[in-house]
Amino acid sequence: MTHAWGWEAEEAVTIAREKVANAIGAVSREIIWTSGASESINTALKGVFNSYSSRGKHIVSCVNEHQAVLVTLRYLESQGAQVTYLPVNQMGEIDLEDLKRAMTRDTILISLMAAHNEIGVIHPLEAIGKIAKEAGVFFHVDAAQACGKIPIDVEKMGIDLLSASAHKFYGPKGCGFLYVRKRNPYVNLTPLIHGSSTHESGLRAGTLAVPLIVGLAKALDIAVKEMPQESQRLISLRKRLWKGLHEKLAISLNGHSAHRLPGNLNISFEGVMASDIIIQMKGVALSAGSACSSGSNQSSHALSTLGMSEAQALSSIRFVLGRFNTEEEIDYVIGRLIEVVTKLKH
Ligand SMILES: Cc1ncc(COP(=O)(O)O)c(C=O)c1O
Repeated sequence: MTHAWGWEAEEAVTIAREKVANAIGAVSREIIWTSGASESINTALKGVFNSYSSRGKHIVSCVNEHQAVLVTLRYLESQGAQVTYLPVNQMGEIDLEDLKRAMTRDTILISLMAAHNEIGVIHPLEAIGKIAKEAGVFFHVDAAQACGKIPIDVEKMGIDLLSASAHKFYGPKGCGFLYVRKRNPYVNLTPLIHGSSTHESGLRAGTLAVPLIVGLAKALDIAVKEMPQESQRLISLRKRLWKGLHEKLAISLNGHSAHRLPGNLNISFEGVMASDIIIQMKGVALSAGSACSSGSNQSSHALSTLGMSEAQALSSIRFVLGRFNTEEEIDYVIGRLIEVVTKLKH
């Protein structure tokens, strides 16, 4: 950079990189800016496979990962990768013994999400990281839903690569980051986007989206600082919502009751279609299944991996509570849902 205006932008990006690195226990040079979690995931999975497939072609993941991971893995399978998809139990948890057993001499990577987008279930990252270290394989974490919501420490958790999107923690849309471990061990990746080698240590070409990057870092900074109080507040709103509905309606909880994101509640309403409920809940932003498949009328793949029938899956709604939700709003939703579900049942 040769002029003051450029230096100013460069400094803003440097500060943003430090903030993001601090938020996850990394160092600045390990943060690569991307357009979002999908691009980060593609860079991580394809990059590891391209760089290390001469060592082995086996990858371990899970049946209920997000499409961004599943579809990328399917592409890698077409390129010669062998992928083991770990099953989950009824609460959406993997068995760590299954993970240990899945490891072969050919395994190069474990890719698991930190927290599930639909059922909010949190995987035991530290224990998984330990298994990955012992086996000498890389550990990639899709933290799109977890970053800024639950504590993440790449050192403590033995994470080698981590993907995230800014808009999930109230940052701008169209921006994300990929953490790539640069020490102990150094993870070598091939770039997904080729071009100028001066950008992002040659890992991602293209002019940086400086305003988005600055917004991402500020948003993550706020989310991490507010996390202890905010997660308690969300848990209490979630409990209020569950209690209010459970007292009056036949409902069941999907996913683990404790190992889940503070703001996530996924509920099946016995004998009623979720789509019929949602249509009548005007003014409330609700979805059945994942946001990416909303409007498709298909039952959720993630819920079917828990062993649920199609009818049960089609009667499920995912509630996501966020920073701007209040107790009054929760009470309004409880009241409306009781009215709507009771009417539909009759
Ligand atoms: C768990 C998970 N992974 C990946 C993604 C993809 O994120 P993006 O659409 O920002 O690329 C999402 C988005 O909803 C997600 O929930």
